[in-house]
Amino acid sequence: MASHSNKRKILVTSALPYANGSIHLGHLVEYIQTDIWVRFQKMQGHECYYVCADDAHGTPIMLRAQSEGITPEKLISDTSKEHQADFKDFSIAFDNFHSTHSDENRELSETIYNRLYDAGHISKRTISQAYDPEKEMFLPDRFIKGECPKCGAEDQYGDNCEACGATYSTTELKNAVSVVSGAKPIEKDSEHYFFKLPDFEAMLKDWTSSGHLQDEVSNKLKEWFEAGLQEWDISRDAPYFGFEIPNAPGKFFYVWLDAPIGYIASFKNLCDKRGIDFDSFWKADSDTELYHFIGKDIIYFHGLFWPAILSGSGFRTPTAIFSHGFLTVDGKKMSKSRGTFIKARTYLDELNPEYLRYYFSAKLGSGVTDLDLNLEDFRLRVNSDLVGKVVNIASRCAGFVKKKFNSTLSETISEPALFAQFADAAESIAGHYEAREFSKAIREIMALADLANQYIDDKKPWQAIKEEGREQEVHDVCSMGLNLFRQLMIYLSPVLPVMAEKTCDFLNIEAMQWSDVQTPLTNHEIKKFKPLMMRVEEDKVQAIVDASADTTQAAEPAKPSKKKKADKSIETTPVVSDSDPDHRLADPISDMVSFEDFAKIDLRIAKIIKAEHVEKADKLLQLTLDIGGETRNVFAGIKSAYAPEDLEGKLTVMVANLAPRKMRFGVSEGMVLAAGPGGEDLWILNPEGDQANGAQPGMKVK
Ligand code: 2FM
Ligand code: ZN
Repeated sequence: MASHSNKRKILVTSALPYANGSIHLGHLVEYIQTDIWVRFQKMQGHECYYVCADDAHGTPIMLRAQSEGITPEKLISDTSKEHQADFKDFSIAFDNFHSTHSDENRELSETIYNRLYDAGHISKRTISQAYDPEKEMFLPDRFIKGECPKCGAEDQYGDNCEACGATYSTTELKNAVSVVSGAKPIEKDSEHYFFKLPDFEAMLKDWTSSGHLQDEVSNKLKEWFEAGLQEWDISRDAPYFGFEIPNAPGKFFYVWLDAPIGYIASFKNLCDKRGIDFDSFWKADSDTELYHFIGKDIIYFHGLFWPAILSGSGFRTPTAIFSHGFLTVDGKKMSKSRGTFIKARTYLDELNPEYLRYYFSAKLGSGVTDLDLNLEDFRLRVNSDLVGKVVNIASRCAGFVKKKFNSTLSETISEPALFAQFADAAESIAGHYEAREFSKAIREIMALADLANQYIDDKKPWQAIKEEGREQEVHDVCSMGLNLFRQLMIYLSPVLPVMAEKTCDFLNIEAMQWSDVQTPLTNHEIKKFKPLMMRVEEDKVQAIVDASADTTQAAEPAKPSKKKKADKSIETTPVVSDSDPDHRLADPISDMVSFEDFAKIDLRIAKIIKAEHVEKADKLLQLTLDIGGETRNVFAGIKSAYAPEDLEGKLTVMVANLAPRKMRFGVSEGMVLAAGPGGEDLWILNPEGDQANGAQPGMKVK
């Protein structure tokens, strides 16, 4: 990364929202996170651009337009307007918001494809897929429904059962029908184009382990390397809403091929409008910085396909990919029936967007942990921090300055040490913003706000003003208070741009730069104080939940499968999207679990009564465990660390209530707990000792 003291050139993106659904609070975690980071970089004086676009291609968009009786072009243009209005009202300040269905994107997608093709990175072969003979189109998995082959549950979409959790191929569904026409799907051959990802294995192994990814992400990618890189199917047959592949009539780029190229296309469009040097940002040896903010479900696309495609076509690769977790509301996945699937507009109809920007930033860190919007905590936290602490400083001081001191601040700063303490926090707070540790930045800012309030409490200007001869003191205290308030607002302005703007107006100053925190405002006329932020009202929060509640459904909407997540943009069942089921993951990186979930785990002392090698398994040992009168068969990946004979007769700790898992070698009925870096350095957890210490097979571990 370039040095902080120099002016950096930075290009930043957020994931492109699908053009067939509304923006909701889940999306906003990412846009707010990115926007704060970008505003922070701009305040530092860096040359920073933030671009985005609608992700406009694919089968769901084509079908949605058809069902509404409009062209896809009309659908995506309407959606783009809606999205942009939502973003604007949440102060998401893109430098450019474009569309993947644009001339720039078509040109760039063709260029990139042609370069990959010429370099031998594209292959072709015929594959067989489900086809709707009536609608005359190939069917993505989730456009097929039928009965579960295992349990018979009806109306199961795609390749997994909501009722019993089974996964299968869509060809195994019983009485399968096309969701589009109701016809029975047939199998049909067609030639597909593939991007040869394995060509990039060496490059990717290097790239993914050299600081471009968060540690937990780069570890996850190691597992994907172990599973082996596969060629990626990048073509779809007509009819398809997208770009036709050069020299391949009737074949279109799969939406996920041209979506990230949309980042480049949006930036190209901006360069053409503003005269920015495009090549300096995208040439292979560019010295500018490129960051993609994404959700953890699309890491595969951004951490593997994307750098490979860029490097294979002569473009620069990203400086870093910043992944974040999912949003939960009141501890649970957003849900229409609970009224917690909240659209951006529904929120905006009731509440100030800066409340949410603040709450998210108070909870955001640099990792991929999920973020919970607890509605009660949200209201209390915003009221206590922003209204009760920050705004309070200004409102306690402003009136006196206006009424008694001609709206003008004192000539000098009466507490230079306190002012300096606030100014000195700049570096640490900036470090937190830079590292995307927003919650740490907020904690530090709020600690300063407490100090400012404490200062005013100690000086009690409301008492002093009643006493003769103490005017100057009151003037100084209130001027000091307003200076501290200004410093706090400088620190908060990436998070609260509207309140920062109102502050500038009230303090009668130009837009605030980060370095302004070092210079006090003295002998300076201010304007009339107007309330900068109102309290969050409980009934407004409830109104949002009420407006979001889908009372037409008694139960939960069709849930996405366990291994995938629902398309964020889909509003109605069936849950359909053109996300790639093999690469979009529900929760690719293990997260925090709630205590409730943790408490469900049944840990037992188990005695290893037999340990055996498993034929053709490099890592596994087969263990027979006694958990007090009951035996369990468990396959454990501990062969690198233990010989079977080392284990027999030992006690260990097992998870006893894990659903049995069918493996290639048999059914595994639980898990033994082990720890360590791996290889030889791996230890099964052992309750230290034996029956003599009281540990007995079957005992619960607490
Ligand atoms: O997951 C999604 O919502 C996709 N539309 C994100 C695309 S990001 C980028 F690759 F374009
Ligand atoms: Zn089933």
